[in-house]
Amino acid sequence: MAAERLTIRQPDDWHVHLRDGAMLAAVVSDTARQFARAIVMPNLRPPITTVAAARAYRERIQAALPDGCTFTPLLTAYLTDTIAPAEIAAGFAGGVFTACKLYPAHATTNSAAGVSDPAAIAPVLETMERIGMPLLIHGEVTEASIDIFDREAVFIERHLQPLLQRHPALKVVLEHITTTDAVDFVRSAPANLAATITPHHLHINRNAMFSGGLRPDFYCLPVAKRELHRLALRAAAVSGDPRFFLGTDSAPHGRAAKETACGCAGIFNAPWALESYVQVFDQENALDRFEAFASVFGPRFYGLPLNEGTITLEREPQLIPAQLHRNDAAGRAIELVPFHAGETLPWRLATPLLRGVAAG
Ligand code: NCD
Ligand code: ZN
Repeated sequence: MAAERLTIRQPDDWHVHLRDGAMLAAVVSDTARQFARAIVMPNLRPPITTVAAARAYRERIQAALPDGCTFTPLLTAYLTDTIAPAEIAAGFAGGVFTACKLYPAHATTNSAAGVSDPAAIAPVLETMERIGMPLLIHGEVTEASIDIFDREAVFIERHLQPLLQRHPALKVVLEHITTTDAVDFVRSAPANLAATITPHHLHINRNAMFSGGLRPDFYCLPVAKRELHRLALRAAAVSGDPRFFLGTDSAPHGRAAKETACGCAGIFNAPWALESYVQVFDQENALDRFEAFASVFGPRFYGLPLNEGTITLEREPQLIPAQLHRNDAAGRAIELVPFHAGETLPWRLATPLLRGVAAG
């Protein structure tokens, strides 16, 4: 008989955008009610490039959490062409930076100050390699001449492979992988290369963006690819290979910023992230491997302790609302369309980590 309840060690989200200000206040509990810790992306305006900015951002995140909440945000440094190795090393030694994020300049939201050429920041990468600080990579080239669906594969060949050769001991996470090329590359690389996989890339292929009309809520970067890639990602996620682990890339943008002439990239999947992932493991007959993907492989890769507590998911259908209305601290409304809007998901988180905070 199929399992009706699944209890696992408390999971972590190894890639999330919590934003700042009103949006931070509106979305942080979605992550904190499911995950004990999260790697928080630094692509704010302005980006987090100093230890002082990260410390202040961490305080704003903590201030936005409900009282008594034990969620731990793990901060990242935004790499630029000019960031000093000493700043990164000081932040890592002081427990402020857990990792560094490499955005190729202009690859995605708020990445204009990103890195022009990964080969040109060798001193930063040498320092990280020496101190054991992980490098998190948005792996897409940005040239207009490269088809958007090929940008991840081309990045791997042109930039990632040479970077790993130049820095053989550097811990690298290829974030939000979307292709068979990435899956195969991670599988064939040494154990210091890992990858996160989002719930949306496990559920949708590129048709979702065009089904019945233009659908901005399915537009994110890297964009979803062909069905064969989605199937390869699902196989990797449920394989039990420790180099593939959970990272939602939940990237909220207000409804008005998505549904406009030039809509923002990003899918807001945080509110039902665990339910979204567990459905995939269930469909793949791999519920017994969900805990390792969600709660074990990530902390092991980062060299952090596993969480002590547990959470329970139960097979209980729930209808996901078409949109969410959130208020910021001043009572102003924020409208967000969540991933799976209007669908019924078969699983439900029975034991949220924040008491009294319901999903949605
Ligand atoms: C992210 C965002 O909005 O910050 N958007 C996205 O589509 N994933 C940036 C990113 O991770 O690429
Ligand atoms: Zn992201």
